[in-house]
Amino acid sequence: MSIRVIVNGATGKMGSLACETILKHSEFELVGQLSRKDDLRSVIARTNAQIVVDLTRADCVYDNSLAIVESGAHPVIGSSGLTDAQIQFLTEYCEKRELGGIIVPNFSISAVLMMRFAAEAAAYMPEVEIIEAHHQQKFDAPSGTALKTAELIAKNRKVQTETISKESIPGVRGGKYLEISIHSLRLPGVLARQQVIFGNTGETLTIAQDSIDRICYMPGLLLCCRRVMSLSGLYFGLEHLLS
Ligand SMILES: NC(=O)c1ccc[n+]([C@@H]2O[C@H](COP(=O)([O-])OP(=O)(O)OC[C@H]3O[C@@H](n4cnc5c(N)ncnc54)[C@H](OP(=O)(O)O)[C@@H]3O)[C@@H](O)[C@H]2O)c1
Repeated sequence: MSIRVIVNGATGKMGSLACETILKHSEFELVGQLSRKDDLRSVIARTNAQIVVDLTRADCVYDNSLAIVESGAHPVIGSSGLTDAQIQFLTEYCEKRELGGIIVPNFSISAVLMMRFAAEAAAYMPEVEIIEAHHQQKFDAPSGTALKTAELIAKNRKVQTETISKESIPGVRGGKYLEISIHSLRLPGVLARQQVIFGNTGETLTIAQDSIDRICYMPGLLLCCRRVMSLSGLYFGLEHLLS
């Protein structure tokens, strides 16, 4: 029996590729390809979908996630933009409903490795800044990947020195998250790119990751669809499925 999957955001760049990919795998049955004109709750109920992959936007991902969990489908949330408080609530909600789910800031394996290596380096080199670049249609900034990278770094670094600099143009030193500067670029010609730059006396270390084609997200997305129904509770990050 194939697993019934809905893709929410199916008219978008990521969603249309996700539908194409799922259709190529007979273990899944694509029972819904939804966009903003559809009513997610009623389609889940009508199709009895087991998994909903959400690839929409930061301004609706929380409502979609609530609708998915409330309907008893397993969420695979690829959209960025959930706040810590929202993730906490969804975690408790999934626990209450005994429902496996996963929120994935980045489905690409090289991005997961970049985050892992950055977290490791932070234990030795606490001075660090993040530069992320995306295409101009990206709705939110910074990216979910940059935020997640900063969280992993913050957990692993012990001390950092106070940088003294006065901004003559507001924001020129980037936005601070967990005391880490994040710089977001939005440019044509870029899909998704991130550099994590560590500085130390007389040396720097740059960890860089480039997504040059959205196809790089599909193996991770399929892995989530294969595993999400057996997860206990809501996970955050593809790395939990890789080890
Ligand atoms: N996790 C990852 O690895 C990864 C990688 C890349 C991107 N992303 C994220 O994936 C999401 C989609 O990216 P994209 O580049 O594919 O965006 P996109 O091309 O703009 O597509 C957005 C999709 O969301 C739908 N949508 C917008 N507002 C909605 C609403 N209020 N309710 C329901 N559906 C709505 C759109 O439907 P309409 O056609 O009706 O407007 C469209 O299908 C973004 O959050 C992005 O940050 C994640």
